[in-house]
Parts: sequence; structure tokens; C-alpha cells
Amino acid sequence: MIINTILENKGDLFPSKIISYKHEVDAVDFFTDNNVILRVTVLRDSLIRFRFTAKGYFSNDFSYAIDKTQSHGYNVLEIQDKEDHYRITTSKVYVVIQKHDCRVGIYELDGTTILEDELGFHWEECYEYGGNIVKMSKVSHEGESFYGLGDKATHFNLKGKRVENWATDQYAFQKDQEPLYKVVPFYVGLHNQKAYGIFFDNTFRSFFDFSHERKGVTSFWADGGEMNYYFIYGPKMSDVVTTYTHLTGKPELPPLWTLGYQQCKWSYYPESKVKEITGKFRELQIPCDAIYLDIDYMDGFRCFTWNKDYFPNPKQMVSDLAKDGFKTVVIIDPGIKIDKEYWVYKEALEKDYFCKRADGPYMKGKVWPGECNFPDFTNPEVREWWAGLFKELVAEIGVKGVWNDMNEPAVMEVPTKTFPLDVRHNYDGNNCSHRKAHNIYGTQMARATYEGVKRFAYPKRPFVITRSAYSGAQRYTSSWTGDNIATWEHLWIANIQMQRMSISGMGFTGSDIGGFAEQPSAELYARWIQLGVFHPFCRTHSSGHHGEQEPWSFGEEVINITRKFVELRYQLLPYLYTMFWQYVNDGVPMLKPLVYYDQTDIQTHYRTDEFIFGNQILVCPILEPNAQGRRMYLPEGNWYNYWTNELVSGKKELWVATDFDQIPLFIKEGAIIPKYPIQQYVGQIEHPELALEVYYKLGKEKSYVYEDAQDGYDYNKGRYSYKTFTLTGKEKEVFINQHKEGTYENQYQTIKICLKGLNFKITGIEIDNEKVSFESVNFVENSLQINKDFSELHIFGE
Ligand code: GLC
Repeated sequence: MIINTILENKGDLFPSKIISYKHEVDAVDFFTDNNVILRVTVLRDSLIRFRFTAKGYFSNDFSYAIDKTQSHGYNVLEIQDKEDHYRITTSKVYVVIQKHDCRVGIYELDGTTILEDELGFHWEECYEYGGNIVKMSKVSHEGESFYGLGDKATHFNLKGKRVENWATDQYAFQKDQEPLYKVVPFYVGLHNQKAYGIFFDNTFRSFFDFSHERKGVTSFWADGGEMNYYFIYGPKMSDVVTTYTHLTGKPELPPLWTLGYQQCKWSYYPESKVKEITGKFRELQIPCDAIYLDIDYMDGFRCFTWNKDYFPNPKQMVSDLAKDGFKTVVIIDPGIKIDKEYWVYKEALEKDYFCKRADGPYMKGKVWPGECNFPDFTNPEVREWWAGLFKELVAEIGVKGVWNDMNEPAVMEVPTKTFPLDVRHNYDGNNCSHRKAHNIYGTQMARATYEGVKRFAYPKRPFVITRSAYSGAQRYTSSWTGDNIATWEHLWIANIQMQRMSISGMGFTGSDIGGFAEQPSAELYARWIQLGVFHPFCRTHSSGHHGEQEPWSFGEEVINITRKFVELRYQLLPYLYTMFWQYVNDGVPMLKPLVYYDQTDIQTHYRTDEFIFGNQILVCPILEPNAQGRRMYLPEGNWYNYWTNELVSGKKELWVATDFDQIPLFIKEGAIIPKYPIQQYVGQIEHPELALEVYYKLGKEKSYVYEDAQDGYDYNKGRYSYKTFTLTGKEKEVFINQHKEGTYENQYQTIKICLKGLNFKITGIEIDNEKVSFESVNFVENSLQINKDFSELHIFGE
């Protein structure tokens, strides 16, 4: 059912007056005389949960999205009973609950309004299915902006938009098309310099409307389930995003090779073709770490089998590829071919693991293999079985990663493109229909896959990538944005989707570089690579139906551009790994949209193109043909043009001239950018030596570098190295202080330091208060090489 309007409905029901309340530890229940209960739980000072029921009791509290280890923290909760309202106070905000209609308002302690209910909670009985259509509306203000919501292919600022959350196989989706593959019912509101967040944790089909239907109103609603949302107080957008990410969970560190460049196509086969592709990368010296096998590696698209005509000895092939530095990643879809000779089908049938229709028969639908049944991944026993299926692929054959696709779940030849809604699911013991389980199905598949790959890859780290995902999926898997198109508009979309995913807790994401459907021009492919190397996941993929899409398919110039940018990515691996560490530890998004970087500057509120990669590199893609540069916005601060080293001051629009083999890239002044030497794949150089590019600043700036064994779990035992470099620039001198945390010992002895942007000539160098000669540190053109364990480097001149 699609609900087109929530406001005209005459059948809407509302809470009546509150007749009593009950306070227990961190929660307060308010009871109305028409059976509504509002439960307000203070999880942290700035994280408050609101849960409504209109039945007079709550159903079992269960969520796949919440990271249970993270949801509680110390907090203050004070409740006051006032004349016409109740007031709950934490150390950061207070919540007002109106006695006569249960409407809620949230304010800063000085009374500043953050978010107020418009109609507040209301609902509509859904007699067809049972349960309620649950609705919420809030007041929105002139100048208020909205961000988040996962993979939406629309303007970065969602003001004026309505979006729908229903995981959908949306082949060749268009700009503004709804719904897409992923479901992240989380948004950030920004008004009067203050940011807050709402996470509506409800897996039914849901909608968000940001003043699209009615000016001045933000509303969200779902086809069933509970009105159950978390309010997150900022006031900084960064606090909202990191709190949301803590709440729904962070991933483990991926193996470093997954941050290298990856090559994919539908499909590389037979084995000789795969080796021809990998060989060509090495011949052309374009770095590459992974090669993907799409559905044709299987025998008749049966998961966990191989087509022995194309791949007579998979183990041998995977090991040959590994010797050349290539990790093999294979696709696994959820549809299991109905074939009584096929072992996976037989096992699942025997154990009764497939999803069933309401009346009993197994749910049947067509996907690539023809008619299939589908495991119920919401059943923990099924997930356990599924995990075990990866033994041969991972432990024996040596596959390093698994790619989960079609898990919206996608079904062919039916208008809804998915399961019938009556299909039953276990939902971890909370039996339900597909209406509730649909949006979470893909995440539970990826979770089961992750458990399996992790088990058999141990002591190495697993790698999983998924197409469909619900909030929290980031704990198990990376993702890509699905079947895009080789058009300039899609390059714009990819840029926005990656920034949006990043602030939606799911940063380990990339687009199909060059476009999946249709064929990119040489120029478009080059521009896409130039952006793609700055996305956390970096993979070229195409449907293969319209021509070749390897870096060498577009002529000499594009080969050189691809090599140049992929090499830059490989040099920046320690920088990328460090931002990943900050994501894993602190929930900090890897890509920072300009509004995230400086929410106080209203110029940033509607920017879509520029973003900060990590903390100190500003990237602005070229999104149009025949460009000789572009206009862009440089945010607050002083920035070095990466290509010319020219220092430019920000908070202004400017024209940046670039050649075809460049895009505007700026480095924040004072930054210390860590780089490795170029490698053709991660691990080619066993102990790559760190080099630091130091961008002079008059003042102070901190930079960080994370390193570890690049794979395995030793980092969990403290065997990592997290370095803080503090730069202090003065008139004609620079100090760099180093502080290390963690017990990992890098094998290299020296570190190369290259100073940029100095406005003086270096005349002296001191290391840990001792003067050293220029020869002893190989001083050439403002570069020097010193022992990696220095505490303070002092450079001065005239
Ligand atoms: C889907 C995927 C695509 C894959 C194809 C064949 O369209 O999105 O990436 O190549 O199926 O498996």
C-alpha cells in the first residue's frame, strides 16, 4: 500500500490526555485515557528514545539495527510534573510532554527550541493487515535543512523532498527516483546553526517528507510497526552523526587491500580471460588488488558451485592470482535454484530453511537461475547454516571476499520486483510477514555471509559487499550503490550518494565506476576514476553488454590518467586507513560534506559537489564534459592547491583551472599528509616506508597516522601504531611533534619528510633538541630523511 497523503486522512487517531505516568530508572511511561503509552528513554544525555503504542501495551522490543553494546551510557534524568505538561531534563536538553495531547517538544537548557511536534504522534487503523499505520509530524522552520537517509539519488539537502524507504532492485535508476536499494531511516536537521538527528527504527515501508506536502512540516510514517524513534541532540552535526553511528554500530577494520583498486565486470570468464585482465594491469602498471567473479563463474547460477568448463581448477586459479597480488571476490545471491540434484537446495529443503507463503508452500520466484526458493535469513539457525556454506569457497579455494547481490530481495517477472507480502519470516523469533522483514532481508543475508567469511578467513579479516542494506548493516559489510548508468548525471549522483552514505553511518561504499548500464565515453570514465579514487570503496564495474570497461578500453590518455589517480590512491593508503580507523573507533564519517565541515557557514548548506576526504583533503570532481576547470566553493580556512602548491584562502567561491589529468584538490594548511610508495597491490612492498608531506601554516594543526599489520586481529590487542603529529608554524620556523599510541612497531627505520609552502629558506635542523647536519638527513629541496622515532623536529631559516 502506498500512502500518498497523511494529513487529509479523516480516519486519523490521536492520543488523548495523559492520566498518569511511571518513572523507572532511565525511562518514563506516560499513559493516556485512550490507551496510548509514550515511553521516553534517556539513553545518553543527548540520545533520547520515543516509543509509542496505541494498544495499551508494548510488543516485544526487538531491533536488528541497534548495536546493543553501544546503546546505553551514563545520564541524568529528572522529571517534573507541571501544570499543563511534564518536563524531563537531561544534562543537555529538556523534553516537554503536553498533558492534554501527548505532543513533545525538545529544547536546549536555556529554552532554545530544537524540535517540536506539529500534530505529533497519530495513527490510522489498518484493517486489511492488522496493526496501525504510524505517523509523526514535526514543525520545520524557514531556512531549516535536512540531510542523511542513505542512498537517495537526489539533491544533498532534502528540504522540499519526499522519500520512500522500500529496498528495491532499481536497475538503471534515475535522478530523484524512489525508492532505491537501501533503507536508512535517519536524517539530520539543521536550523539556526544547531543540528539534531532522528532515527525512525521501523523496518516497514516508510516515508519521510521534508516540507514537500506541507510547508513548515516534516513528517515520517510507516505501514506498520511502532512509532519508535531516537532523537539525537548535536548541536554539531558531527556529534549527531557519530552518535547515530555508535547507536547502529561500526564495522571492524577491513583488510588494507580492500582499500586498493578493484576490477569487476559482468562477467569475467573463463579463467584465461580473468588472467588476461589481471596480467594487463601488471603490464600497464596500473595498481589493482582485487578481481571479481560475477554470476557466470557458477554452474547454472547455483550458488556455491563452479562452472567447471570455465574454471576447471578454481583453487589453482585463485592461488595463481594471489601470487600476482590479486585477491578473488565472488558473487553469491540469495535465490537457491530449485533443483533436487543440487546440494544447497537439498540441504535447505531438508532443514526447512526456505521462506514460506502464509498458507504453507515455499515462496517461489524467478531470478538468474530460473525458479528459486529463498533462505529465511531472519532465522538465526538459517544464518548459521548459511555461514557454514562458505567453508569450501573461503577455507579451501582461498576466495578473499564475498559479494552479496539481489538481496532487496529481487524477484524477476513480477511487477512488485520482490516477494509477495504474505511471505512469513522468523525475525529472530518475532514471527512476521514480509511487510516487516523486507527491508532487513538483505542486511541479514550480508550478516550471515560475514559470519561465514570471517569464520573461514580467520586469522585474516573478512570482506563482504552488499547491494541492499538497512541501518546497522555497516557492522558486517561494505556496499555499492547498485546499477547506475554511464552518464554525467550519474557521476553527479555518485558523488552525492557517497557523501550521503558517509553521514548515514555506512561510509564504506562506492559506485560502479564508469557506470553499470551503457558505455561511458573516454572522458566520462576518466572523470569518474578521478572521483572514484576518493571514495572509500573503489571499483570499476559494468554490465559488460555495451563494450569493454577496463582502464585500457579508452585509449592512451585515459590509461595514463587512471594510472596517475590510482597511484595517488595507493600513495594515500595510510591516509585512507587512518580515516577508516577514525570511523571504526569514533564513528567519524570518512567523507565530510561541506555542511558537515562547517555548518556555521550557510553557503555550505546547499553545496553538493565539494567534500572533505578524511580531515584535510578537499576534493571537487569535474562533472561536465570539456571542462578546463570549474567554479567551486572553498570552505573556511586556508588551502594549498595540490597541483600548484599555491595557498588560497577560503570561505569564497572561485574558479580553479585544471588540465584533463587533474581535478581540483586542496590540502588544508598545516596538514601532514602520510604517503606510501606506489605499489601495484597492497603487500607488494612488505614494509612500505612512510613519507610525510608537510604543508606549512602559521599556527597549529594536528594530523594523525594509523598503521598496523594491514590484516588480522592483532590490532585488537593493542598492536597498532596511532601517531599524532602536531605542527606548529612560526615566523621562519616549524616544529613537528610526534606522539605515538599502541605497541605496533613499524619495520622501517626512517621517515621521509617533505616541506611545502615554506616562506623562508631552511638554514638549520634540530632533532630532539640536537642540531644535525644537512648531509646526515639527506637534505634536498626541502626534503629530509630522519629516524622515524623522533619526538620533535625543529626547522628554522631566514
Ligand atoms: C545485478 C547487480 C550487478 C551484477 C548483475 C549480475 O544487476 O547489481 O552488479 O553485475 O546483477 O550479477
